Amino acid sequence: MKLLVIGSGGREHAICRKLLEDPQVDAVFCAKGNPGMQKDGVQLVDIAEDDHPALIQFVKENQIDWTFVGPEIPLLNGIVDDFQAAGLKIFGPNQQAAMIEGSKDFAKQLMRDYHIPTAKYQTFSDFEAAKSYVLENGAPIVIKADGLAAGKGVVVAMTEQEALEALEDMLLDHKFGASSAKVVVEEFLSGEEFSLLSFVKGNEVYPMVIAQDHKRIFDGDKGPNTGGMGAYSPVPQIPESMVQTAIKEIVQKAADGMVDRKTPFTGILYAGLIATNEGPKVIEFNARFGDPETQVVLPRLKTSLAQIIDDLLNNRQPDITWYDFATLGVVVAAPGYPADYEKNIALPEMQNTEEQTVYYAGVTAKKEQLVSSGGRVFLVTSQGTNLADAQQKAYAYLSQYDLSQFFYRKDIGFKALK
Ligand code: AMP
Ligand code: GLY
Repeated sequence: MKLLVIGSGGREHAICRKLLEDPQVDAVFCAKGNPGMQKDGVQLVDIAEDDHPALIQFVKENQIDWTFVGPEIPLLNGIVDDFQAAGLKIFGPNQQAAMIEGSKDFAKQLMRDYHIPTAKYQTFSDFEAAKSYVLENGAPIVIKADGLAAGKGVVVAMTEQEALEALEDMLLDHKFGASSAKVVVEEFLSGEEFSLLSFVKGNEVYPMVIAQDHKRIFDGDKGPNTGGMGAYSPVPQIPESMVQTAIKEIVQKAADGMVDRKTPFTGILYAGLIATNEGPKVIEFNARFGDPETQVVLPRLKTSLAQIIDDLLNNRQPDITWYDFATLGVVVAAPGYPADYEKNIALPEMQNTEEQTVYYAGVTAKKEQLVSSGGRVFLVTSQGTNLADAQQKAYAYLSQYDLSQFFYRKDIGFKALK
């Protein structure tokens, strides 16, 4: 098989690497990918994610069997619709189904219509109406831009003042442009977060092992939100019964709801959940793999990823099994991230081992040297017999290299290990 992956980050590196493990896979191309992936034999394709005609031409000329879409933006741009119209196989939701991530209002309506547990909410485009709602309900309260805002469109307001400022930013000052022309104001949920990703095809749901992300920049979950600073799997403090309830009452109902409203979802459905005293509740749905969750979930997948996707694209039921070992991944970032960050920092030459893998994200190549180009530069995943072992091994690996020009959290996994 020859395969194409769309995207360029650490998530896509993990997807490509896993696809290449299968001896049936002769080549994995990635558009545009990043030069760090080449170390694992991924072939880079210099075509932009939004140039659908050029991507389609590449697939036809190179006889690619199917394409896998990593990030949400191409999905929302309708890459799946365009490939299918050209008669090509591609794994991911079409434009309409990707709205489960593209519009919080769409996602909330789906949850309301199909009785999927989530925070109580109301949608507003009028500032005064939103303000009254906040004053009536009080803080803590959560304000979310309706559209995509690169993970920055959510304000968890601990005071009414903060909530009103967020509403002003979004509805009056148009901080996120059209993405915040509408806002969702929702109830604050308290409990531990976890990510439950599933392979979905219409009504069929194949859940993966769960993971936990660390969204805040600093140790102890302090400081601003980021794209994610590290992750681990399993998440032992989330009881198995909570996961089973989430599969049945959240993921399956969402998949069935999408079929029922004639926008069936095929692809990776990511449920961002909070384990509350009343059971799991949805914070968000994403229409794709998570980053950095993918870099800790896929290494635990025993079955060939290529086989699973091939089965789903060809109407066969995949048989999915997992390894028992634990994985823990630490993101190494550039100073300044998540605000303006430094670029062009040279990376040390790192080798993968039996247990540790480097997944490259914000990197570019200057001659043969990898240098940083993004805020999240790379992530190291270690496996271990349990989480404590995986944590110790991830940090032992990182400490072998001079990473003094970068920074990373020192406490990934702390909630499971306290
Ligand atoms: P999101 O971009 O929707 O994933 O939200 C970013 C972060 O805000 C989440 O990871 C949660 O930590 C937090 N958050 C979002 N919605 C809620 C909520 N209703 N209650 C409490 N925290 C929330
Ligand atoms: N790790 C969060 C996300 O991928 O949205």
